[in-house]
Amino acid sequence: MNYIGIDLGTSSVKLLLTAPDGRVLTTASRSYPCSFPHPGWSEQDPDLWIEATWDALKELLADTDKSQIGGIATAGQMHGLVALDDQDRPIRPAILWNDGRTVKEVDYLNNVIGRKVLSARTANIAFAGFTAPKILWMRENEPENYARIRRIMLPKDYITYKLSGVFATDYSDASGTLLLDVEHKDWSDDMLALCGLDRSQVPALYESYQAVGTILPKVAEEFGLPAGVKIVAGCGDNAGAAIGTNTVKDGTMNLSLGTSGTLFIASDTFKVDPTNALHSFDHASGRYHLMGCMLSAASCNMWWYETVLKTKDYGKETQGLTQDRMGRGHVYFLPYLMGERSPLNDAAARACFIGMTMDTSRLDMAQAVLEGVSFALRDSLEVARSQGIKVTHSCLVGGGAKSQVWQQMLANILNLRLDLPAVPEGPGFGAAILAMVADGVYPTVDQAAQALFSLRGSVEPDPEVVKRYDEQYQKFRLLYPALKEVFPKLG
Ligand code: XUL
Repeated sequence: MNYIGIDLGTSSVKLLLTAPDGRVLTTASRSYPCSFPHPGWSEQDPDLWIEATWDALKELLADTDKSQIGGIATAGQMHGLVALDDQDRPIRPAILWNDGRTVKEVDYLNNVIGRKVLSARTANIAFAGFTAPKILWMRENEPENYARIRRIMLPKDYITYKLSGVFATDYSDASGTLLLDVEHKDWSDDMLALCGLDRSQVPALYESYQAVGTILPKVAEEFGLPAGVKIVAGCGDNAGAAIGTNTVKDGTMNLSLGTSGTLFIASDTFKVDPTNALHSFDHASGRYHLMGCMLSAASCNMWWYETVLKTKDYGKETQGLTQDRMGRGHVYFLPYLMGERSPLNDAAARACFIGMTMDTSRLDMAQAVLEGVSFALRDSLEVARSQGIKVTHSCLVGGGAKSQVWQQMLANILNLRLDLPAVPEGPGFGAAILAMVADGVYPTVDQAAQALFSLRGSVEPDPEVVKRYDEQYQKFRLLYPALKEVFPKLG
């Protein structure tokens, strides 16, 4: 049998068909837009995901022996609020993980309900992109829509629902709702009540590697698939990328440079960052992880190149960015295009360039963008280091990881060896692995991840450049505190 992994991302859905020995047989993807109806807001129509996924699935299956499909699992963008009415139709566009509209609700949750209470109930505090503050926002700002909510779910659960007819989620993705008691793996009745919800309105909880059901007969017929194809719970995209990169053993780390930038540290035991800057979530392996998430990573490049410079030739913009230039720039970039999540928790933060002079070149600006994102990712790594977590290397995945210049720069800024997996499609590959485990091909996620993982190369930090970047990073750290009070005044 072969297995399909779906990565429901923010800019596109990427599907891969994988053999049980880990060979990627074929891939297909479709892009879709994100709408930004107000500065700092971010929405997507859930039915666009279905259209794109169905289309890509048809392409994926076109030249395949469909009788050999054993299971399908989805790893999806996390935290998005998908609210369905009593006909199971989306009430409004989904409010995404990088949406910053809930400043008031986050303030209420963290300062009136209180961080300690939230952390005791869920292992986390509120961040603007999390699901619970969005429900409170809907109650306050769209009472008619709120009153129509029959069920809520996360983005990938909408795909699972359309494939299987089952209303299900998994622990890793549910962790990002601020409605789950992460340690005990159950919905928090207190948090549900706070949002005016009850258990009948949230999905049933599964381990990521459990089947929630089988494909609906009408869907099987549409794709020419056999009855009985397993539909598997799947996971949040970061947990998926971690499974795909064998980031399952205690203390191992994966970095992802996608629209968001994430640092993911697997943990055998339940842990909470005492500052709550890092998220404490369940892992798709069945255990736990800590995670830092910055809201705009590779999307800063996309913004700078495509929106501002009107070019798609990313490589050309960084031509000449040699190791010799690294750590010697004088321009800094704060990458807060959508505000910032970890570790700042500040939806009002904004992006800026600082330090330009008359001789600043286009290359200096491109360099500053890559460095700014890397420094901001280091902010989360420093939180982990300050808690005694020692990491010497990490896997690196995501669209941004394709750039050799960025790989080298990041290795230097983080002072880590970066390993590049042979299958770079982290979340989709991780999802396919979960489908294999659900179908009994491997007994555990750990065994599957280990058996199917291989490297195509590694990038080592250069000690001289590491030293230069250490000094620059100290300067970068001065900038946000100096501007923090200014951002909210900008409107
Ligand atoms: C993680 C997060 C992002 C999205 C992006 O907490 O918000 O990484 O999952 O898809």
